[in-house]
Amino acid sequence: MFSQRYADGDMPWDSGITPPEIIDILAELSPGKALDLGCGTGTVIRDLLNQGWQADGIDFVPRAIELAAAKLADCPPDSYRLVCGDVTRLADLPELRRPYDLIIDIGCGHSIDKALNEAYAAGITNQLKPGGSFMLYASHPRPESTVGWTPMQLARLFNGKLDLFWEQRSYDAGLGVAASWYRWRKR
Ligand SMILES: C[S@@+](CC[C@H](N)C(=O)[O-])C[C@H]1O[C@@H](n2cnc3c(N)ncnc32)[C@H](O)[C@@H]1O
Repeated sequence: MFSQRYADGDMPWDSGITPPEIIDILAELSPGKALDLGCGTGTVIRDLLNQGWQADGIDFVPRAIELAAAKLADCPPDSYRLVCGDVTRLADLPELRRPYDLIIDIGCGHSIDKALNEAYAAGITNQLKPGGSFMLYASHPRPESTVGWTPMQLARLFNGKLDLFWEQRSYDAGLGVAASWYRWRKR
């Protein structure tokens, strides 16, 4: 589905703007190493690099990785890595410069196959440094779609792995559904 949408140029999520919730956390944290899950065309990675972070991005659509590479072409090549791979199989990707101070997921994880939820959550937990943060933007479920997590489903998924300390309700205008931002921290 995502491959076809990139092939058709049908990417309404690709605003070219890093969300204010991410700008806020970057203002709070000292630069370190970040990983963007489902990085799309690399907008967030570019802002991370501009603020002195080392940033890696992963997306399973080769066209997204190509577009991100073009967007980052004038950035120092050793400051970022773009990896074509699956966010539910992070341990299988030797290119990732783990462990990370910050992992970001804006609208990726909520569409994975629910049977892979545990692999997704365990992968993120294992790639984070102690004290590291995970920022997630995810829509709430709609009856006619398999996309989305409720806040309660996410609380259960990360229970015993990461500590939730910030949550903010939002609205996904593209999907026409409620959504939430979450920030977890690894002890
Ligand atoms: C809604 S888009 C958001 C892209 C980007 N985060 C943004 O905000 O512009 C979701 C992205 O996640 C990618 N994606 C979805 N499932 C994935 C998976 N299992 N592994 C890697 N990438 C995935 C898609 O290819 C797509 O680029």
